[in-house]
Amino acid sequence: MKKIEEYYAPWVKGIPMYISDHIEKAWRDPSLHRMMSNENPLPPSDKVLEAMVKYAKMANRYPDQGLVVRSKIAEMNNVDGPGNVMIGNGSSEVYDNIFRMFLQPGEEVIQHTPCFGIYGLRGTLLGAKMVSVPMIYKDHLMHYDPDAIIAAITDKTKIIVVANPNNPTGNFMDAKHFITIAETGIPFVIDEAYVEYAGLGMSQVQLTKKYKNVLITRTLSKAYGLAGMRFGYTIADKEVIDQIAGSLLPWNVGTIPMWAALAAFEDTEGLAERVKFNNDAVDFITESLSVIPGFYVMPSKANYILFDCGETGKTGKEVLAFAETRGIILRGESKKYGSDGWFRVTVGTAEENKLFVDTVLEFFGMKK
Ligand SMILES: Cc1ncc(COP(=O)(O)O)c(C=O)c1O
Repeated sequence: MKKIEEYYAPWVKGIPMYISDHIEKAWRDPSLHRMMSNENPLPPSDKVLEAMVKYAKMANRYPDQGLVVRSKIAEMNNVDGPGNVMIGNGSSEVYDNIFRMFLQPGEEVIQHTPCFGIYGLRGTLLGAKMVSVPMIYKDHLMHYDPDAIIAAITDKTKIIVVANPNNPTGNFMDAKHFITIAETGIPFVIDEAYVEYAGLGMSQVQLTKKYKNVLITRTLSKAYGLAGMRFGYTIADKEVIDQIAGSLLPWNVGTIPMWAALAAFEDTEGLAERVKFNNDAVDFITESLSVIPGFYVMPSKANYILFDCGETGKTGKEVLAFAETRGIILRGESKKYGSDGWFRVTVGTAEENKLFVDTVLEFFGMKK
């Protein structure tokens, strides 16, 4: 008799459950300041809460395919209709649907690093090889490297994924470079998880009308502040959506999240309030910490900021450990570009942002 291990698909063997230790920790101790996971510090608006309660009362019923919310998304993005939109439990699930419709074991996914980790997790699960193309770090700023992305293409490349703005760097790639990559014809996923902070005017969604290979992904986890609801979507050509939607689990998005999402889209004031709060906070943190010699702040258009304090002689790890003594959880980053001074903060409440700034200033001896 063969052992159970011999029956697993070879490329999934040993893949563990993904557990975010800092999120686990934050739920265990609600007094901690969650400045690590790019969540929104503001709770859902009353209008969104009303929708949640209304549909919670109908939770005994199966959801439909979400035509109302998909139509709303289509209208907001000026695409033909709900057939151009597929919805999922957060954009993480949407990548899973997209990836499994293109990838076979041994094929390649190009990602631009540093980047969001879920692309790699889903690609690896499908037996794909992740090809990481690093961004360029020059003059203490992170830059996209579209030429290197193009150069990394092989006959095995099945997907190219680029986040815009990128996490953790916070910057946008020039519009013309999206066209260059789209022109290759390779499925090109543009992750716009944070685009609402800069406004939909920065979206590349119009490319989906010209290029069947371009897919835009978005989420309500960030500017809309509904990370715990799990709602994301992709916009693309209708035929492409039809094909990718073949991978959907029946009733994947629950009734409550889909109607809460609709309420969030309709509550334009609620979004504007969250965006303004965030962008003011990013300015506050950026300005307050730019005074530290040898401490570099990456300009951000999202709800997090990446720092490099390598030249101060301190490491990102040391900053994280000090912040933890004040109950603040930050996000560590691996050593890169010869520096081990990287770390990232997520915008918190006004009090938390002040506490974070004071803590970092104190750590670097800048606080009287
Ligand atoms: C670039 C990027 N894309 C997508 C997501 C996924 O979010 P969700 O699965 O909650 O939609 C995140 C979350 O941190 C992210 O940083």
